[in-house]
Amino acid sequence: MSDLAAIRVDLGDRSYDVHVGPGVRELLGSVIPPGARRAAVITQARVGWSVDPGIDHAVFEAAEGEAAKSLSEVERLCRAMASAGFTRADVIVAVGGGAVTDLAGFVAAVYHRGIGYVSVPTTLLAQVDAAIGGKTGVNLPEGKNLVGAFWQPRAVLCDTATLATLPEREMRSGRGELAKYHFIGGEHLDGLRLEERIAGAVAIKAAVVADDEREGGRRAVLNYGHTLAHAIETEGGYDLRHGEAVAVGLVYAAEVARALGRIDEARVDEHRRVVASYDLPLTLPPGLDDDALIDSFRRDKKAVAGLTMVLDGPDGVEPVAGVPEPALRHALAALR
Ligand code: GLY
Repeated sequence: MSDLAAIRVDLGDRSYDVHVGPGVRELLGSVIPPGARRAAVITQARVGWSVDPGIDHAVFEAAEGEAAKSLSEVERLCRAMASAGFTRADVIVAVGGGAVTDLAGFVAAVYHRGIGYVSVPTTLLAQVDAAIGGKTGVNLPEGKNLVGAFWQPRAVLCDTATLATLPEREMRSGRGELAKYHFIGGEHLDGLRLEERIAGAVAIKAAVVADDEREGGRRAVLNYGHTLAHAIETEGGYDLRHGEAVAVGLVYAAEVARALGRIDEARVDEHRRVVASYDLPLTLPPGLDDDALIDSFRRDKKAVAGLTMVLDGPDGVEPVAGVPEPALRHALAALR
């Protein structure tokens, strides 16, 4: 076991550490909240990583894939935990990708009005984004992440040994979120070993979350590249994982920023270079309709004042309200 970095998410009495390195899941017993009697380990059958919380525990399997993130799974797990006698004195341990950590974190937020949880993310995407920062939740048929809570974990163990068995497609998806960090303070991540990049990305996210836990302002930068990504995901039927869609979304956001005169051609090229260096797509999948995408941008729950997009500019990446439609259309054309 090698604990490369313990990164503090500084939130007063809710502060916690994110440990990064091969084998750090072995730290689980030492990060279980003091006084916890039993642990409910929530995972998925295919995750294939067992953990030892060091106290009496029971394992609960969620539905496979994104189907885990549903209110029916929340009810099923809460009922199973109630039948097994879990109380507020106990702890949840989430072991899996972002679907598991989002679901298990939400169960922890609502079970007995809130119990402690520890996340052990086992995918690159969850290690650099989903499992850190306390956003938990599930999907509705009407949209993703529409029901959730801010509920911070007691600790996060990003065990990089779990990445060795991850399918390449999953790694690609995680690399899309890593590419995002390049533009929000992570230029120094280029050229680092993967584990160091993960630790660097976590450090950026930890600082942003400590500054703006509930996304009143700065936390929105973590949604860089996500306007187009969410629209592609909402349209459905495209064989792109979340992080792959974010990668195209980064190039799109750069083209919109250039259309608005916020950045120059060289900076757009920098976006293409970084996305390509992570071996990720630079163009829209064929068949997407501009009108449908733009409708979808407007329905995005983060659109508060007309169309708000997170865009690069002279002062760095920031939310920009009232992005005009011609710029959106021009940038879509540039991505075909
Ligand atoms: N994934 C964006 C955030 O945690 O705010």
